[in-house]
This record gives sequence, C-alpha cells and structure tokens, in this order.
Amino acid sequence: MSLRLGDTAPNFTQKSTHGEIDFYSWAGDSWVVLFSHPADYTPVCTTELGTVAKLMPEFEKRGVKVLALSVDDVDSHVGWVKDIEETQNARVTYPILADVDRKVSQLYGMLDQTNLNQEGLPLTVRSVFVIDPNKKIRLILTYPASTGRNFDELLRAIDALELTDKYNVVTPADWKDGDDVIIPPSLKDPEVLKEKFPKGYKEIKPYLRVTPQPNK
Ligand code: BEZ
Repeated sequence: MSLRLGDTAPNFTQKSTHGEIDFYSWAGDSWVVLFSHPADYTPVCTTELGTVAKLMPEFEKRGVKVLALSVDDVDSHVGWVKDIEETQNARVTYPILADVDRKVSQLYGMLDQTNLNQEGLPLTVRSVFVIDPNKKIRLILTYPASTGRNFDELLRAIDALELTDKYNVVTPADWKDGDDVIIPPSLKDPEVLKEKFPKGYKEIKPYLRVTPQPNK
C-alpha cells in the first residue's frame, strides 16, 4: 500500500551521516522534509543536495528539519558530501540516510523499478515527503531521475501549508508569502466572515473571495 496525503508517516531507525536516526525522536515537534535522490556521485543529485544545503536557513526559519536519503552507504555519503561542498559552495549540515537495506525507501514507496543499479536492484526516485508536527504526510512529490527539483517551490508550498493550518484560508495559484489569499466557499456566515477577516474581502464570484493575508 502506498502512502497518501493524511497518512501517518511511518517511524523507522536507519544509519545516517549523523549516526543512527530514530525518525520520530529525531523529528520531535518539527515539520520534516524527507527527500530521496537516486545515487551519490551523480550530477543532478549533487546540485540538488547543494541547493538544499544553501536553503537551510529558509527551512530553519519555517521550523522544518531536513533529511535526505539514498541507498548508498555512509562512507559513500561522507565522501560525496565533500564534492557537494567543493562544487556547490555550501555546507551540508543535514543528515543523509544510508538506506542500504532499502528499509525506509520501501516503507515510503521511494523505489524506482525503472532505475536499477549494476546488481539489478532498484534505486530511489526523486521523492519528497513533507510531514507535519503530528507526523501526518501533508505533501508528496515524485520527480524522475532526469529532472532536478525546484526547492523554492517546496518552501512556497510549506509556507502555504503552515498558513492554511493557522488561518481559515486557502492559497491561489502561484501564491507567495504576502500575497492575497482566498476565503473557502464553505465560510458563509456574515458574522464569522467579519470576525475572521476584519480587513474585509473582495467578492469576485460568490465562490471566489479574496482577502489580504491575515498575518501581514
Ligand atoms: C543525476 O543525479 O544526475 C542522475 C542520477 C541518476 C540517474 C540519472 C541522473
């Protein structure tokens, strides 16, 4: 059974570049980005892990812990991190899981049956799981090996998740922090609308009502 939005993220213990990680205790009360890459010492993955390293202050600002994963071993990760730091001008401060036995990648459905190693075993695809402080899976992305991910988009989606958890709003296409948001069509009571949206709102259609972002 593959994991879906709203499922509880399964716990696991696995070796990493920061020692053995028990996922739930490592995550604590934070949001988590768990993301896999196909293999160490490959070009696209090198740029991806470098980009995430540079964006760590942005993840930290949002209370998000980052955990990378591939089926390579710890020694391979440690050697490759030196290359990432040399070529991408960034320090990799987040742990990388060494999922050699594919325990975590199987649990999370990250394996790509079309991308096999020399022994014919599947490598991980470019998966991303955003997990909230209650350990619920809130966002899932899957990209093919040929296509590097856009981590600014991941931050934007995390901003939207954190905002819409706090306020009774939803976010439109291409929304970014500070832009107007949308009032869910289910909210109809004029007294509730006045209380929740003191800055008012613009009704473009009865189902499309736009209001300034509540916390700005
Ligand atoms: C890469 O990261 O460049 C890559 C990894 C696996 C397959 C294809 C490309």
